[in-house]
Amino acid sequence: MTSNSGYEEYAFIADLYDHVTLYRDRPDVGFFVDAAEAAGSQVLEVGCGTGRVLIPTARAGLDIVGLDLSPHMLAVCRRRLLDESEAVQGRVQLVEADMRHFELGRRFTLATIPFRPFQHLLTVEDQLACLTTIHRHLAGDGVIILDVFNPSLDFLVNRPTGEELGEEPEFFTPDGRRITRRHKTVAQDRFNQVNHFELVYYVTHPDGREERLVHAFSLRYLFRFEGEHLLARAGFEVEHVHADYDRSPYGSKYPGELVFVARKKDV
Ligand SMILES: C[S@@+](CC[C@H](N)C(=O)[O-])C[C@H]1O[C@@H](n2cnc3c(N)ncnc32)[C@H](O)[C@@H]1O
Repeated sequence: MTSNSGYEEYAFIADLYDHVTLYRDRPDVGFFVDAAEAAGSQVLEVGCGTGRVLIPTARAGLDIVGLDLSPHMLAVCRRRLLDESEAVQGRVQLVEADMRHFELGRRFTLATIPFRPFQHLLTVEDQLACLTTIHRHLAGDGVIILDVFNPSLDFLVNRPTGEELGEEPEFFTPDGRRITRRHKTVAQDRFNQVNHFELVYYVTHPDGREERLVHAFSLRYLFRFEGEHLLARAGFEVEHVHADYDRSPYGSKYPGELVFVARKKDV
């Protein structure tokens, strides 16, 4: 089974991911580490990627299983773990699996889906498959935390399609490649709430050679109450909806994030 995320298809994304300024500077790591400390081991991170959140969580002393469908992202995570102490390495287990259907044979106190992997699920069927699979893996009063972007109405109505926009700050890889990135909304499927995007990486190698790499992927956006209904259908009770990782309440910022914190209901 593959996703529509591009992460399994293009190895270059895993290679560049940890160097992208916007990812490196995301203000969410402390929030997820605090949540893991409050819940205690064991934690499950779904869509763990290269370990951006997983490694700091293990450093904080928590046992964590990281699950991801992309062998490329997991390979980078494994490589990064080699630089960690044996104690940190010993707290981490990585699993290559699809978030819609997996069976780990154990239960967790907390499951997180940081930085929007859930939006790569493009149908209600897939969203519910993921949430019910996680529900099955949580202990009696286990917690799920997932974040998605809060859809900006202005973006949905006015964003031009078919144009490469918004050059981001350039970044560098340790081997000396200089990279700038632009993004394109290729098409908007408003009936299914799915946008098709491209992230376009312009790479200049140390010898001057230039390369253009395209990461094509699709994201489904969801609104606040849709998220709450999905979680309720999957057997969760929503405890908080935050607009940001500083825990400000939904509605205090626009568009902000949509961070759902929900507890498993005993059914
Ligand atoms: C934006 S990255 C987020 C990675 C990490 N959580 C972080 O915060 O940096 C999205 C991740 O979701 C993973 N992903 C997408 N669809 C998936 C699926 N169906 N099952 C498991 N992982 C998936 C991708 O491989 C990728 O690593």
